[in-house]
Amino acid sequence: MRPIDNSEKWLEIINSKSAAEMLTERELECWNNISPENKSRYIKALIEKPIVFENPEIIYDWYFRNKWATALKTVCHQESISVFEIGAGGCDIVPKAVSMKFCHPKTRYFTANLNKELTQIFKWKTEVDPIDIYVIEDDAANIKTYVGENAFDAIVFEHSVNDVLETILAEKNGIDTVNCGWMDILPTITEVVNREWGNETFEKNTKGEFLKLINTCVDVLKPGGWLVFAHYQFQYNLDIGLSPELNQNIIPIVRKWISDSNIGKEYFFDGFDSNWWMFVRI
Ligand SMILES: C[S@@+](CC[C@H](N)C(=O)[O-])C[C@H]1O[C@@H](n2cnc3c(N)ncnc32)[C@H](O)[C@@H]1O
Repeated sequence: MRPIDNSEKWLEIINSKSAAEMLTERELECWNNISPENKSRYIKALIEKPIVFENPEIIYDWYFRNKWATALKTVCHQESISVFEIGAGGCDIVPKAVSMKFCHPKTRYFTANLNKELTQIFKWKTEVDPIDIYVIEDDAANIKTYVGENAFDAIVFEHSVNDVLETILAEKNGIDTVNCGWMDILPTITEVVNREWGNETFEKNTKGEFLKLINTCVDVLKPGGWLVFAHYQFQYNLDIGLSPELNQNIIPIVRKWISDSNIGKEYFFDGFDSNWWMFVRI
């Protein structure tokens, strides 16, 4: 697998004093119970191999929270920001990064999330965060019903391009992604995705809706605002049969769709591998 980052650099950071800056007090206890040797082993595995659920979640949260904090600080230089995350699911990486790096009365974080069970988990995880958090229980493509033009500085896809594409195919195949356990339907969705990928119908059946969503995002971004995308691999997806070729190339695939449609201009930043990250300025 192509590593998602420079593991040598993160081996230094993870055992430095400043590592604790991106952790809450409650997390620190768990963090301090992991030996430096294990921290080094876990971060190396996270960067160089598909992610396994057996490794401590705190390492995963810490690394991606740091990455998103740096990504957002790289593109947004003001004290407060307005961010829209597509399909956060039950994951609080971006709201925590925003809370820690842009804590300000004017900072606002929105997510649109279809799956009800994951939305509940998300609300529970973020209720303590010290910024305004809005959860829209609807398709992200309907964002214009909830906010006006120029609403956001950044719109982010934290490992959710795949989820958006999967949801598009699931809907076309009559699979309910709203009132279900996400992990329960994942094997069925994976079968559909693989079939479309194998039959070379994947692009035909996803690209139009995906680009419609991106164009809607453009409509609610401020001029000069950013679309930021991140992807990485989970071993579980590969274990249940997801095509490794598709899984490794999610960002390059949508990069081509976006650039062929002349949406914004892509920027490249040191420390962000372009196979796993994409920054598009509108
Ligand atoms: C697996 S979860 C969370 C992914 C998360 N971003 C992560 O870090 O892994 C995927 C979520 O994306 C949501 N989703 C997919 N397409 C969506 C869309 N068009 N609008 C809103 N939510 C969407 C799903 O309903 C689900 O809650």
